[in-house]
Amino acid sequence: MESQRIREEFLKFFEKRGHKIVPSSSLLPTDPSVLFTTAGMQQFKQYFLGGESPHGQNVVSCQKCFRTSDIDEVGDESHLTFFEMLGNFSFGGYGKTRAIKLAKEFLDSINIHIDYVTIFGGDEIVPRDEESVEVWQALGFSQENDNLKFCGREDNFWGPTGEEGPCGPTTEIYAKGIEVWNLVFNEYYCDRNKRLTPLRQRGVDTGMGLERLAMISQKKNSVFETNLFSPILKEIFGNDDRAKRIIADHIKGAVFLILEGVLPSNVERGYVLRRVLRRAIRFGKLLNLPQNFLTPIAQKTIEIYGDVYPELKSQENDILAVIQKEEEKFEKTLEAGLKEIKKVPKLTGEIAFRIYETYGFPLELIEEIRKVEDRESFFFMQKKHQEISRAGAEKKFKGGLADQSEKTIKYHTASHLLLAAMRAILGPEIYQKGSNITAERLRFDFNYSQKLSGEQIKKIEDLVNQKINEDIEVEMTEMPKAEALKIAKISFEPAKYGDIVRVYKIGDFSIELCGGPHVKRTGELGHLKITKEESSGAGIRRLRAILE
Ligand code: ALA
Repeated sequence: MESQRIREEFLKFFEKRGHKIVPSSSLLPTDPSVLFTTAGMQQFKQYFLGGESPHGQNVVSCQKCFRTSDIDEVGDESHLTFFEMLGNFSFGGYGKTRAIKLAKEFLDSINIHIDYVTIFGGDEIVPRDEESVEVWQALGFSQENDNLKFCGREDNFWGPTGEEGPCGPTTEIYAKGIEVWNLVFNEYYCDRNKRLTPLRQRGVDTGMGLERLAMISQKKNSVFETNLFSPILKEIFGNDDRAKRIIADHIKGAVFLILEGVLPSNVERGYVLRRVLRRAIRFGKLLNLPQNFLTPIAQKTIEIYGDVYPELKSQENDILAVIQKEEEKFEKTLEAGLKEIKKVPKLTGEIAFRIYETYGFPLELIEEIRKVEDRESFFFMQKKHQEISRAGAEKKFKGGLADQSEKTIKYHTASHLLLAAMRAILGPEIYQKGSNITAERLRFDFNYSQKLSGEQIKKIEDLVNQKINEDIEVEMTEMPKAEALKIAKISFEPAKYGDIVRVYKIGDFSIELCGGPHVKRTGELGHLKITKEESSGAGIRRLRAILE
């Protein structure tokens, strides 16, 4: 089945069954914590959390997505940066049983045979998904038949997208050896500290890659042989299939990013665009492709998608101009950069960064030519550079502080003292499980299995006040994350921090990785009073405190 027919069949199938067709949203989401739209559910996130959907409870869409997480796998049979996700969604309407039955019915209707399905097998926090087991069993799937498997959190649990949001167990459908459809049951809300709380309303969020479905339906061995790619690949000459696939994928992605107004640059989205364009050019060099080889590839992309996304056609000239300009810019520096990469006796992170700055070679590209000795120092330099260029403009949410008034900054420093005091009194295994600071008070969640006694609370409070009275200097240093993790306590898991981190040190008492800001000396805090101690979930306690 042609990809265009698959899109239509999918949307029609669900429309007939009570779903409203919603157009794809932009590739650039409104959620500031993610760079790109990577899933169909993103535009509906608030409706899973109880917000009223203007489209009704059940919707269906074909969503443009862009993901860099799989970029190193692009070139195999099924991974891509740009792809379209077919999905049906329900916000408090139907649940697992209907979602699974609809998925099976749709695949049957287009003659796709399911090899096997996977189901969330349960862990200490979320139980095994029994409802999905029952439904699949009734449809002929079981462990005995070898077409039903259980997996854990890694494989069968999805979300949240961004820093917080809905998430839940999944059941995944495999056909021809690849995962085609992911059915997510949004039953939980995951907060910034990765804590799950049950959602009041059940949600269904499904995603099926159009390219993968086309590959199976068209009986091809890779997504690149489907009608969504083969016309593009015909424009790329050479006998290195991986290189050709990477070029095709990256240029397609670039076309769609430029359509959304992204321009090549050295930061954020612009950097991602530059990276895919330059990576494509570099692979073009490997195939000895002529100058301006990207233009016909981009034109083919626009031809394939022009009917579905007509704005591609109206903006064709602008898109091609951006690509050509970047190609020319890169061309000039490519030769010189290549020479330099090969010439230096030792390719350190610092030298790699200089090459990146001078010639615009992304790190990945440098590393395809030669290994960089210490990547950490590359990231260190890069981050510094970005911070300098952004200085002043940066008004982002920092260190969990909703505002940065004098009072909230004081409470922020007080929470460091509080954590250190609790570690001293209750034990070193205490971690921050959440915190919320306003100009009026601080609230602090931590792991502890029982209620604190009045005596423990007094001791903690006294120790904090002792450290305030000592008027200790609060020192900040920036360093690569790997180095910081060796010396500082962390509040959250390492992956939550960037490559360059700030370490805040309060004498020998507290040393923490943190975005800041903080007061200069503890004496500025005044006097801390713990006003309340209560439970905040299993094994979690909560303290509230004020500064007087
Ligand atoms: N949101 C789910 C995914 O992206 C369906 O896989």
